Amino acid sequence: MNFYEDLGIAMDNLSKRGAFLTVKNENIVNTMTIAWGYVGYSWNRPFFVAMVRPQRYTQELIKYAKDYTISIPYSDDFKEALTICGTKSGRDIDKEKEGEIKFIPSQVVDSPVVDNCDMYYECEIKYVDLIDKDKFPEELKKNYPKEDYHYLYYGEIVKAYKK
Ligand SMILES: Cc1cc2nc3c(=O)[nH]c(=O)nc-3n(C[C@H](O)[C@H](O)[C@H](O)COP(=O)(O)O)c2cc1C
Repeated sequence: MNFYEDLGIAMDNLSKRGAFLTVKNENIVNTMTIAWGYVGYSWNRPFFVAMVRPQRYTQELIKYAKDYTISIPYSDDFKEALTICGTKSGRDIDKEKEGEIKFIPSQVVDSPVVDNCDMYYECEIKYVDLIDKDKFPEELKKNYPKEDYHYLYYGEIVKAYKK
């Protein structure tokens, strides 16, 4: 399907319920909950931009990874899993086990997706940026009381599909 199909409902669920950002690096797979992110079109290609704070285990993995996936549920079936994956670190727990989720192979990229979600984006990392606090607006700095400005991972959407 085209990357912009279902975009309204996908963004509504991402921002209200959250989604899984899953990364595989060598043999390690980890997922974390995200609620911020962008789907857009740049350099004649579709992109997802994921925002990762420096202290996340996900950041340790994604900085060496080639790709990541976004799995978005459209129901409350994953409420508990999104809470666990959004409050506990893969450094301390096995999220697949404790979150009672299942990683299944992606169609194109190495990083898996979370089984039974409703919308998937498989993304190849093409560009990484770090928010520059000197250029960042004062009114939004309350989002960074620890000055842990996000890394922005521009992932080219190489596959978008529904369950
Ligand atoms: C609803 C929700 C949305 C979140 N969005 C983000 C996000 O966009 N970026 C981020 O770095 N952390 C976000 N977090 C926090 C991480 O999911 C959380 O710190 C997680 O435990 C990190 O896991 P890790 O250490 O295994 O990477 C969010 C948490 C929740 C509950």
